[in-house]
Amino acid sequence: MERLQKVIAHAGIASRRKAEELILAGRVKVNGVTMKELGAKAGPKDRVEVDDVPIYQEEPVYFVLYKPRGIISAVTDDKGRKTVVDYFIDVPERIYPVGRLDYDTSGLLLLTNDGAFAQRLTHPKHEVDKVYVAKVKGIADQKKLYPLTKGMRIEGHRLAPARYEILSTDKVAQTSIVSLTIHEGRNHQVKNMFQAIGLPVQKLKREKYGELTLAGLRPGEFRQLSRKEITSLLQQSK
Ligand code: URA
Repeated sequence: MERLQKVIAHAGIASRRKAEELILAGRVKVNGVTMKELGAKAGPKDRVEVDDVPIYQEEPVYFVLYKPRGIISAVTDDKGRKTVVDYFIDVPERIYPVGRLDYDTSGLLLLTNDGAFAQRLTHPKHEVDKVYVAKVKGIADQKKLYPLTKGMRIEGHRLAPARYEILSTDKVAQTSIVSLTIHEGRNHQVKNMFQAIGLPVQKLKREKYGELTLAGLRPGEFRQLSRKEITSLLQQSK
């Protein structure tokens, strides 16, 4: 059950504020009954009408996209660049990304129209592990990477300890491939963490989100999450 003004706003009829005005003006009915208080709630099975016209409530939908590099993690872009939502032209629901990946980061991105789900997964205190694989400039070793595991202080924020694995090093090119597991999602967090230890990121990909992986997807491809996967993500975010 959601507050009526949220249901109306979510259906794209009006902003939440305008929806409150509609309710107070007695223009909203739930199952045939006029609702005039802002505390009223409605669920997906309720028939909600504004000025006697039923509103269409979207079913919640959940997708995993393999975001390619060079795509904006947003619904629209003021510079007219391609966004992750452009991959979903055949999906009628108004979906948006759960958190974001940088323009030049590729990998696993969730999209949904379920605000509660998105909020829960992106809240820093909900500990869903995300695994990133970074190609960094420099040779990674235990000593250099040690601060990552201690909870670094970056831009005034104390970060939670992270786990890492050195996947390979290339002495000729002076680069390394390192996987990093974190559960927070601050802006540019992975790049900032590596930058802080003198290993600037050249390429970044998110490989895992909780138990979810990119298995079976190529860049630009997406699929719907199964009920089991949705439940599992919600359980991990407790
Ligand atoms: N950390 C980053 O620095 N960039 C991303 O896109 C995601 C995590």
